[in-house]
Amino acid sequence: MQELSNMQTVLFSTLLWGALVLCKGAEQTGDFQVRLVNGKDSCSGRVEVFHDNKWGTVCDDGWDMNDARVVCREVDCGSAKSAPGNAHFGPGTGKVWMSHLQCSGREGSLKDCSNPMFGLYSCPHSQDAGVVCSGVFKVRLVNGKDSCSGRVEVFHDNKWGTVCSVDWDITDATVVCRQLGCGSAKEAKEDAYFGQGTGEIWNIQCSGSEGSIEECSQNRVVGNGCYHSEDAGVVCSGGTEGEGECEGKSGEQCQLDSLDNLLDNSSSMTPEALLNVTLRAVDLLSQWKEEVGEKQIDVALKIPEKLASALVKPTQTQHSESITTEKIEVETFAIGPEANLTDTPQLKARDNLLKIDLLSIAKKNNGSGAVVFIAYANMEDVLKAEFFHTERETNKTMMSNVVSASLPNTKNTMLPEPVNFTLRHLTVDPEGQLTCVYWNQSRWIVDGCELTETNTTHTVCTCNHLSTFALIMQTDRPPEVRTGRT
Ligand SMILES: *[C@@H]1O[C@H](CO)[C@@H](O)[C@H](O)[C@H]1NC(C)=O
Ligand SMILES: *[C@@H]1O[C@H](CO)[C@@H](O)[C@H](O)[C@H]1NC(C)=O
Ligand SMILES: *[C@@H]1O[C@H](CO)[C@@H](O)[C@H](O)[C@H]1NC(C)=O
Ligand SMILES: *[C@@H]1O[C@H](CO)[C@@H](O)[C@H](O)[C@H]1NC(C)=O
Ligand SMILES: *[C@@H]1O[C@H](CO)[C@@H](O)[C@H](O)[C@H]1NC(C)=O
Ligand SMILES: *[C@@H]1O[C@H](CO)[C@@H](O)[C@H](O)[C@H]1NC(C)=O
Ligand SMILES: *[C@@H]1O[C@H](CO)[C@@H](O)[C@H](O)[C@H]1NC(C)=O
Ligand SMILES: *[C@@H]1O[C@H](CO)[C@@H](O)[C@H](O)[C@H]1NC(C)=O
Repeated sequence: MQELSNMQTVLFSTLLWGALVLCKGAEQTGDFQVRLVNGKDSCSGRVEVFHDNKWGTVCDDGWDMNDARVVCREVDCGSAKSAPGNAHFGPGTGKVWMSHLQCSGREGSLKDCSNPMFGLYSCPHSQDAGVVCSGVFKVRLVNGKDSCSGRVEVFHDNKWGTVCSVDWDITDATVVCRQLGCGSAKEAKEDAYFGQGTGEIWNIQCSGSEGSIEECSQNRVVGNGCYHSEDAGVVCSGGTEGEGECEGKSGEQCQLDSLDNLLDNSSSMTPEALLNVTLRAVDLLSQWKEEVGEKQIDVALKIPEKLASALVKPTQTQHSESITTEKIEVETFAIGPEANLTDTPQLKARDNLLKIDLLSIAKKNNGSGAVVFIAYANMEDVLKAEFFHTERETNKTMMSNVVSASLPNTKNTMLPEPVNFTLRHLTVDPEGQLTCVYWNQSRWIVDGCELTETNTTHTVCTCNHLSTFALIMQTDRPPEVRTGRT
């Protein structure tokens, strides 16, 4: 689809993100850009914005940490540390494009903040605004007994380093566990408990409420302040489920519940951590030992939806995000009052399409709306065709991936017209009767969805509600089965 075709793709090739591709949102209003100039590194400096084909600056009137947060996010520099004004990084040149910005801090771009008033205000360059951002701090755990314990290593300025354990405690460990989607912190380990690392050593101090260590204070250890023999480590609950909080309960059920609980705090988790929790839930479901019940399926289907809602960010214009992994593909599309769409957006996941009249939905929601489309890779083995009960006994086969659509953070979810799912057939040339079905509690049912078009490779299901859908093919039972029964 057009709107989403120019998405910038970032490949996370670190240990943690094997097969993950996260596509950064694509904003389409003109050529607005932001850069930082004259700072001590690439993540601090005078804020310059590109508008109307010219670079200019931002006035420090009303400039605060919320505005700085948006800038740091927009230039991919982690979280904001300070928001200096008065041309702290030297005066710029050209127009002072923006002033009196009133960002909430959650916007994806400065241009989405209230009051962007381009170039309407006169302000001298001696008042140019600046920011100091944390820079990107990734974290990983090394040498532990599982992926949720080990020596803490942080990635900054393209290098991995370790953390000094002199002032390291459970509040710091809590943030690391949360950032990794590994639950709560059980122990903060000192003095190279998980062996010594190499590289720079960092002092990291958190209050415990931060969502990631980017928001904590970080200082490089200089001189002989700390040695690798003092490298810090953590043990998180995510790695000890089954021994700890899940002891004595059905292991899988307890793990699924604890993943579900983790996502109750999704606002403080990074998309990577959210995705990890989602993938663990999907894995858990597909490896369920006993017959998987409706309760498990309902929880496991809610987890990706929580992930998707967390990915949807408020916007004035339009914004999309997509996540592609082997197991699941998620695409979101959000529009705001200044969206410049002429046609209804089409979302795509694992070669399945969703067409929805988001513009009309937004009209009934003060101009804003968002839709999430999810396609699962192997969920058809869990939400099996045999959960579709028909009067006549037929041989039923799943003919498409399981897909799911929802309208997160939207008050009025009434659909002005039916939505259309174009589902790709898992095998070409279906030979039986095709039915569009949706998952209602523990079964596939047909209510509210009908097949409107089909060819050898695709079928269009037109549905008057949003939920979890698939395509099922029915064929007559082979004669042996029938004679066996008489
Ligand atoms: C909005 O859309 C119209 C027509 O589709 C186009 O002419 C205009 O340049 C667009 N504006 C922006 C800011 O993209
Ligand atoms: C994320 O999940 C995968 C399994 O799905 C696991 O192998 C990996 O170590 C996890 N990473 C973290 C940080 O939890
Ligand atoms: C959610 O976060 C709050 C504060 O950070 C914490 O007290 C609470 O235990 C967390 N809940 C879960 C389920 O992690
Ligand atoms: C979906 O298809 C139906 C029937 O072809 C049509 O009436 C409806 O407008 C379509 N919905 C969208 C959002 O395109
Ligand atoms: C639209 O905004 C008004 C005023 O802010 C609010 O009362 C109303 O609930 C909003 N409607 C929707 C559907 O969000
Ligand atoms: C059911 O249909 C599928 C697909 O046509 C076929 O592969 C399978 O052998 C059939 N099973 C039975 C028991 O008829
Ligand atoms: C979904 O299932 C529940 C419980 O089995 C039932 O009460 C409800 O009517 C079903 N919804 C539809 C639309 O059939
Ligand atoms: C079948 O329909 C799909 C979706 O409408 C289309 O992309 C595809 O080209 C069609 N295939 C054939 C063989 O007509």
